[in-house]
Amino acid sequence: MIREIVQIGDEVLRKKCEKVTRFDDSLRALLDDMKETLKRAEGAGLAAPQVGVPIRAVIVDVDEGFFELINPVFVWQKGEQVGPEGCLSVRGKAGTVRRPSKVKVVFQDRYGDRYSLVARDFFARAVCHEIDHLDGILYTDKATDLKDAED
Ligand code: CO
Repeated sequence: MIREIVQIGDEVLRKKCEKVTRFDDSLRALLDDMKETLKRAEGAGLAAPQVGVPIRAVIVDVDEGFFELINPVFVWQKGEQVGPEGCLSVRGKAGTVRRPSKVKVVFQDRYGDRYSLVARDFFARAVCHEIDHLDGILYTDKATDLKDAED
């Protein structure tokens, strides 16, 4: 089911999201809906608060694959990259954001099993952007030159 993507100004985007403790069918239904919603919106990532659910769950869809990260935590962040960013919750805007170039994250999957991943370049940018959402941070808080997107 496609869910409505919450837009900037809604307070749910500013919440410190709760850790996921129940890996049940309702979590999996939410993740399935988020995936469908992200595909329709043609985005690179989506965080649960963006569909109005303030829990620590994000999805990322990049060249390296499709990832569901539940309770993601950085192990380390290395290097630096500066590049363009946008957000499905900030329609029609783009900005330049400084991010680490390489990150390692530990997380759980939709069944609660624990994994880790190393992401670099755009994948690292997407992971950082989505994890920021879980702490109520939008890329617009960090962008140096927020402007109207050209498309
Ligand atoms: Co976003």
